[in-house]
This record gives sequence, structure tokens and C-alpha cells, in this order.
Amino acid sequence: MACSSLVKLNASSSQWIGQQSFNQRPGSSSRLATRRVSFVRAGSYSEELVQTAKSIASPGRGILAIDESNATCGKRLDSIGLDNTESNRQAYRQLLLTTPGLGEYISGAILFEETLYQSTTDGKKFVDCLREQNIVPGIKVDKGLVPLPGSNNESWCQGLDGLASRSAEYYKQGARFAKWRTVVSIPCGPSALAVKEAAWGLARYAAISQDNGLVPIVEPEILLDGDHPIERTLEVAEKVWAEVFYYLAENNVTFEGILLKPSMVTPGAEHKEKASPETIAKYTLTMLKRRVPPAVPGVMFLSGGQSEVEATLNLNAMNQSPNPWHVSFSYARALQNTVLKTWQGHPENVEAAQKALLVRAKANSLAQLGSYSGEGESDEAKKGMFVKGYTY
Ligand code: 13P
Repeated sequence: MACSSLVKLNASSSQWIGQQSFNQRPGSSSRLATRRVSFVRAGSYSEELVQTAKSIASPGRGILAIDESNATCGKRLDSIGLDNTESNRQAYRQLLLTTPGLGEYISGAILFEETLYQSTTDGKKFVDCLREQNIVPGIKVDKGLVPLPGSNNESWCQGLDGLASRSAEYYKQGARFAKWRTVVSIPCGPSALAVKEAAWGLARYAAISQDNGLVPIVEPEILLDGDHPIERTLEVAEKVWAEVFYYLAENNVTFEGILLKPSMVTPGAEHKEKASPETIAKYTLTMLKRRVPPAVPGVMFLSGGQSEVEATLNLNAMNQSPNPWHVSFSYARALQNTVLKTWQGHPENVEAAQKALLVRAKANSLAQLGSYSGEGESDEAKKGMFVKGYTY
């Protein structure tokens, strides 16, 4: 008899397992002996989640991350001399989200809550602007980082309280995927406690998102900070992703309905030698192949303070031969830097700034397909954006 209920193994065990089939062998005194167990997550959104993830992970496209909190968006605006007001944030997001032709290169856009509920100055909802271009609206759902007591000066990510009801509301508003960013610091250890907390939080968030129809982007950002060599980053990344997948499985998360947002495996930003795109691709793909099951549809990298051109070159190097997953981008800084510098807050620069966004989006689209040449890039796009101890 097929059954999808949860069954407790025995009275003293605190482990529950999903039971797909429950047969009693003739003559067997114990039902447990013949139980067939399958970790199948029952959920009304299962098919939709898989479809959403697939459509985001579609060839030649990636994610535009513009989910900066109001405080972080304020830093972006301040860099071009603008005040951090709601109308300035709206003007900036409007510029980005109404760029003609964006949907050719961008499959998803991660928004901050304010933007999800906001409209253009003409009264058109931003989510509708996205849908028209076949871009899936996403939402940042974490509540940011706070110090992790008992650790080595590390942090943990808040936001699980009330997440189910917030996610259901975001779905109603049009969001179809979510993002939760936690961080791991190599110079601070990382401590076993911080890694476990990061992995567990991501897994709980992922399960809650899937229950509410949102594809979770799983993002344990391993910060660029530090003077360590690339081998050390590889070691830490392997540890972090092993724990993340362990807890994702423990929480019965459907791997076909998630997306990953890893940091690339690079030397620490203050290491004496820089690594080439080929070396970064080799280490990053080695790590991913060791840790990420092929059931996962897409790996969408963050840029983490790399220059726009570096982030594109590294992505291109990773797509020189076929991968088990769609390997693409989910950049914030590496898609926005030149746009902001071009815009400067002046209405007459909007068109040029939108063209600048398309240049970057197209370059990364080519990199997703492994055919970016790196020619003709501006000096601005080559400027690194690493900030020590950067907070989002
Ligand atoms: P960056 O590409 O700026 O590292 O963005 C990371 C991020 O999580 C934005 O959603």
C-alpha cells in the first residue's frame, strides 16, 4: 500500500522518515524489517518549483541581483552623490528593470521587499515589467547578519521567524524564487559552529521556501577577505557545501527545485598572487563536482567584489566544457557598477545607463555560453570592487 505519511521509527527515536511503501512480509514479526523508505517531499508546488528553476537556469541567461536592503542601496546611491530616499531608490530600480531587451540575457531578478511592492513612476508594477520580459521576479527573504555568540567573531543570518507567512505573501505578490545570503569568513576560522549554523539556516529556509512555492537560492557566501591561498578556499568551500547538502537532505528539500549561489574559489583578496580565470575555473569546478549533485539545475555565482570584467572572464572560463548544471551568474556589484557611474542620477543619462546594463548582461550571457572574448571592455568595468569587511 502506497502511503505518503510520516512514520516515527520507534518510541525513543526522535527521527521521522517519509514512508512511501509499507509492506509486511508474510511471517515477519516486525513491520520495520520490510519498510521501504523514500525521502520524497510531498508538496503542492513540486512541479512548479522544478519549472521555475529550469526557466531561470536557461541557456545564455542569468540573474540580475538588485536586492540591496535600503541601507545598502543607500551606499550605492551615495557613491554617485544621491540621497537615500524612496523616490531615488525607485528611480534607480526603474532604470534597471525597464531596460528594453533585458529578458534576452536575464532570466530572474532578485528584489528587495520595497521593490516587490513598488511600481514605476507611471504606476506599472515592477513585477509586471519583469513578467513582460519573461524575467522571473525573486525576493530576498533573509533579515541580515548579526554576531554569532560563542564563535570567533563570526555571524549568523536571521529571518526564519515568520518566514512561511512572509513567503506566502511574496508568492501572492508575484515572487517565484527567494534568496537567503549567509556568510562564512576564512580569516575568522571558520569555526565548526559558524559553518553548521550557516548550513542549518540555509536548509530550514530552503524547505520553508519550497513549501510556499518559492525556489530557494542557497547562498553561503565565502567572503573574499583574507590573505590565504586558493587551496585554503577550496578546503573551506568543500566543508561548507558538504554541510549545506547534508542539512538540505535532512530537511527533505527537493534538489531539482533549488538554485545555488556560491562564491568562486579564489585566493583571498589580500593574497600575494592573483589567480588566472583558468585556475579559478579549475578549483571552482573541482569543488562543485565533488559536492553538488547533478539533480541541482543551476549554479548562479555571486561576484563578491571582483571587477565586472573579472567576474565575466571567470564565468566564461567555467563554461569551456559541459557541466552537469547550468553555470551562470547572479551578480549585483558586477552588473551594476558601470550602470551607476553612467547614470549619475541624471534623467538624461538613463538611456546610456540602460545600454551599459545591456553590455554587461550580454557579456555575461556570452560567458554563460563560454564564448565571451573580453575585448573592448571599458576601464571602469575592469576596476575591482572588493571592500574589506563588506556588509550587504
Ligand atoms: P555580489 O555579486 O555583489 O557579490 O552580490 C551578492 C548578492 O548576494 C546579491 O544578491
